[in-house]
This record gives sequence, structure tokens and C-alpha cells, in this order.
Amino acid sequence: MRRKLVVGNWKMHGNIKSNQLLLTDIINGLRDYKNADYVVCVPNPYLFQARELLQHTNIAWGGQNVNQHEQGAFTGAVAPHMLTDLGCTYVLLGHSERRNLFHETNLTAAARFDAAIKANLTPVLCVGETLAEHEAGLTEVIVASQMDAVMATLGDKEFAKAMQLNMVFAYEPVWAIGTGKTASPAHAQAVHEFIRHRIDRRNSDAAAHVRIIYGGSVNSKNAKELFAMPDVDGGLVGGASLNAEEFVAICRLAN
Ligand code: PGA
Repeated sequence: MRRKLVVGNWKMHGNIKSNQLLLTDIINGLRDYKNADYVVCVPNPYLFQARELLQHTNIAWGGQNVNQHEQGAFTGAVAPHMLTDLGCTYVLLGHSERRNLFHETNLTAAARFDAAIKANLTPVLCVGETLAEHEAGLTEVIVASQMDAVMATLGDKEFAKAMQLNMVFAYEPVWAIGTGKTASPAHAQAVHEFIRHRIDRRNSDAAAHVRIIYGGSVNSKNAKELFAMPDVDGGLVGGASLNAEEFVAICRLAN
């Protein structure tokens, strides 16, 4: 049985005061729910605050992106060891907002995936098609190309390390992100199954163990049905992760 995972993606939201309230409510709400894993990916300036509040709890924290370089003249960038210095255990990679708004590519996702695992961060690789691609029937082609771009760069040693770190895939159809339009449980299941098959071609043990989470307008009303699908191992939650009651409710459904 794969243990379910819920990752909150705060994106560029919050301030010290609101974070304190949100995290305190999440900690209290999940204290007795120990059968799933929970993570919040907060903006970098608040990682210190996340560490202060979340250490010694059952909630982990992570970054929303990371640079592939270890150090150097990369103004505005954050290196993998900077995230681990602040206690991060997870990092989101290749989120569609990074791809679409900041022109990040499969190549950067691959380099960052490699850098993340070298730094012992569990990568959460986001993949998913746009509405136009969806309507053109290209979902599998796009998802496969995004996965392959990363998987192909990993040698056997790196792949084994990624497995050891419990790498995560997040299927996030772009048309479902922040739109209130969730993929149907059947659609999510079909794509998650496709992702698992694709990993199986490389390594069947990895395919059986890897967690594939769904993202795109997940809320406390649709999470139950989505999480009930055999290949949906949890959720990547944006908007609803900023509301403690909602986020806790979603996490409890995964428990
Ligand atoms: P959403 O965002 O839940 O607000 O749709 C999900 C995401 O972008 O990770």
C-alpha cells in the first residue's frame, strides 16, 4: 500500500502573521492524523518560519522551486543546499506556472531534478497538458515528453537515489489549475495509470512504489472521490491550501 501524500502549494501568498495562524491551525488539525504524509511548500522567505513552527510536528515543508547550480552569480536563485539548510525535505519542480510564466523548460526541470536528489530533497515533478493540448487529444504525448525529459537524464545511480528519496510525480492538467474545473476522477485515474506504466518501463519496483498525486482545483468536496482512485496517491493543493479548514479536511481524507 502506498501511503497517501498531500502537498500544499502556497504559491506567492502569505505574510508572517497569516502564516502563523494558518500553520498553527494545520498543526492542531492534523496532530492525530498519522497515516498519511503532509507537506507545505511555502515562499522562500518564510521557510525559516515554517521550520520554527513545523519542526517536531507530522508536517514537512519544502520549496516551490530550486536552481540547479550549487552556488554562484545567479541573482535571485536559490540553491538546493539552501533549502536543506532550512530543513526542507521536498521541492516542487516544473510547475506549470514556472513553465508558462517564467519560461522554464523540460531541460531546466531535468537539471533541477538531478540537483535536488543530489541534495537529498524529494522532488515533486509536475507534469500536465494545457487546455488546447487536452482538446487536441495530446494529454499522453505531453505528459510522456515531460516525464521522459527528466527520466532520460537520470543514470541508474541517480534513478536509484530518486527512488530512495521517494520521488513524487504530480499530474496537474493546466486547465484545472486555479480554475475550479477539476479533472474527473476517471480522467485523473487514466493519466496516473499512464504515468505509472511509463515508470514501469524503466523499473517495475519504482512504478509500484512511486506516489503520483493529482493537482488542479482540489478541495474538500472533490478530494474523496479523487483519492479513492487506485493510482491517485494524494493531492497537490494550491488555493485550498491557504485555508486551514479546507486543507486540514483534504489531508484528513488522505489519512
Ligand atoms: P489549485 O493549484 O489547487 O489552486 O488549482 C494547484 C497547483 O497549482 O499546484
